[in-house]
Amino acid sequence: MSPLAFARRLAFALVAAAALAPAAKAADAVDPAADLKAFQAYFHAAFPKVPPADFVNGPYSMNADMRKQWQDIEQFPPYDFAVENGKALFAKPFKDGKTFADCFPDKGVGIRQHYPQFDAKTGEVVTLEYAVNQCLAAHGEKPFNYLKDDMAAVTAYMAFTSRGKIFDIKVPDDPRAKEAYVRGERAFYARRGQLNFSCSTCHLQNAGKRIRAEVLAPALGIMAAMPIYRSTWGGMGTVTRRFATCFSQVRATPLKPGGRTYRDLEYFLTYMGNGLPVAGPGARP
Ligand code: HEC
Repeated sequence: MSPLAFARRLAFALVAAAALAPAAKAADAVDPAADLKAFQAYFHAAFPKVPPADFVNGPYSMNADMRKQWQDIEQFPPYDFAVENGKALFAKPFKDGKTFADCFPDKGVGIRQHYPQFDAKTGEVVTLEYAVNQCLAAHGEKPFNYLKDDMAAVTAYMAFTSRGKIFDIKVPDDPRAKEAYVRGERAFYARRGQLNFSCSTCHLQNAGKRIRAEVLAPALGIMAAMPIYRSTWGGMGTVTRRFATCFSQVRATPLKPGGRTYRDLEYFLTYMGNGLPVAGPGARP
């Protein structure tokens, strides 16, 4: 890209990004559908050559060399083991004889695209990971570690059975749902840590650019391939693990796994990817 083209793109990105940030909006004018349109339009304008459904492939959608590398990895997917393990855990009876299938609609198969969802009974956002631990608690079992291992395996299996289904996250007309959405949106745009970066600094303004050896995934569709295998982790990680890692990247202290802020943040980000297909589990370098 020529310096002039780059400067133009940067100027465009800054103006467009400023328009997306929530400070620009009145508190009583929460309009998730309008936000979604603006958010997706921003990425489609910034990356006109990337086919819309391709954003779910994160860094691979941004860079031809990495795409090649990814196609090679997908020949022998490193997450296969987690999917198998998750399938076995899904079938294994709890102490009371029930299984995960008893906790979810459609026995938990092909439903990933509906999470996170707002629970009108409790007024809380329920992510898939949170729902897995709620299920365990309801059946007298110990919760899984939110970051990896069994949690990554069960959610990998659930994502795998949902591949290609279209994300359809709802923000119902309930003030508590809208508040959760707004809290998630603020968490995405808020600056934090010693580096004073927000999620949007890296995954919106600088999407597709390199930071050290890594190419920054675009925030559009960024939840679609979770959970993911990462070579740098030497294994699988959940959404919670990824959030905690990104908090550490900016030298902020990671938040409580399963806590409200992470769940609301995931609600906002997954909603922004509505219309895109489930692509998890993913594999990353
Ligand atoms: C300093 C830059 C930086 C900031 C700020 C940052 N991240 Fe990241 N994030 C990364 C890097 C580097 C990766 C790994 C490369 C990639 O996939 O983008 C990553 C990956 C991710 C991924 C996985 C994407 C994929 O397809 O593999 C998610 C999800 C994510 N970040 C969410 C967040 C959230 C939410 C925040 C705000 C709490 C955040 N990030 C803040 C640098 C950052």
